[in-house]
Amino acid sequence: MERLDKLLAATGRWSRKQAKALVKQGRVLVAGQLPQGPEDKVEEGTTVTVDGRPIVTQRYVYLMLHKPAGVISSTQDPREKTVIDLLPRDLRRLDLFPVGRLDKDTEGLLLLTNDGPLAHELLAPGKHVEKVYYARVEGLLNQADQAAFQEGITLADGTACRPAKLEILSPAHQCLVTLGEGKYHQVKRMLASRGKPVTYLKRLSMGPIALDPGLAPGAWRPLRQEELASLGR
Ligand code: URA
Repeated sequence: MERLDKLLAATGRWSRKQAKALVKQGRVLVAGQLPQGPEDKVEEGTTVTVDGRPIVTQRYVYLMLHKPAGVISSTQDPREKTVIDLLPRDLRRLDLFPVGRLDKDTEGLLLLTNDGPLAHELLAPGKHVEKVYYARVEGLLNQADQAAFQEGITLADGTACRPAKLEILSPAHQCLVTLGEGKYHQVKRMLASRGKPVTYLKRLSMGPIALDPGLAPGAWRPLRQEELASLGR
């Protein structure tokens, strides 16, 4: 338990005096409720918002980002805009990193955290955490493609992919691909090996976490309690 004004000041964005003023102005909500005053005690992990924007009150931070096309999945880059650049200043200071990578032109679910062990759990090759992608392709998808995915595709350079699932949403160009691994450009290369180059790619889920349909590209939100629980956090 921590005093509300102290907790706000610990973000580095406000002094203790400014934090008290924010609370008195009614700009702060604790778990969606107006607090009684700056001295209210707040439990770790409670969502605290200032002007409707969540601030960080936990040791580890877990965010879901709807990655837009055109930004890279790195923490910093001298030329390119990164996924971290999409966050407000107080969150940029927390050493967050993306759990795995999406290509620059790929959209969709990207988890950002500073919990190294969690990233390891989700990415370790032996763990087979399933990722689901929505893809649009050139060419017509057919049962032979599905069978090849099920069998395990070998890419042009000899890389063997584990069996994967291809679900055809419409033969003319739309499918879902489920992978338990994450090789470089894997979805694009698997579909290209079937003569169906990808024209659009979006990640819909990673393990138990699904992209919130309410998040526009470029938007983010903290993971909810039940989502954290599904990750064992
Ligand atoms: N597979 C790809 O080809 N690209 C991504 O960004 C993710 C998976």
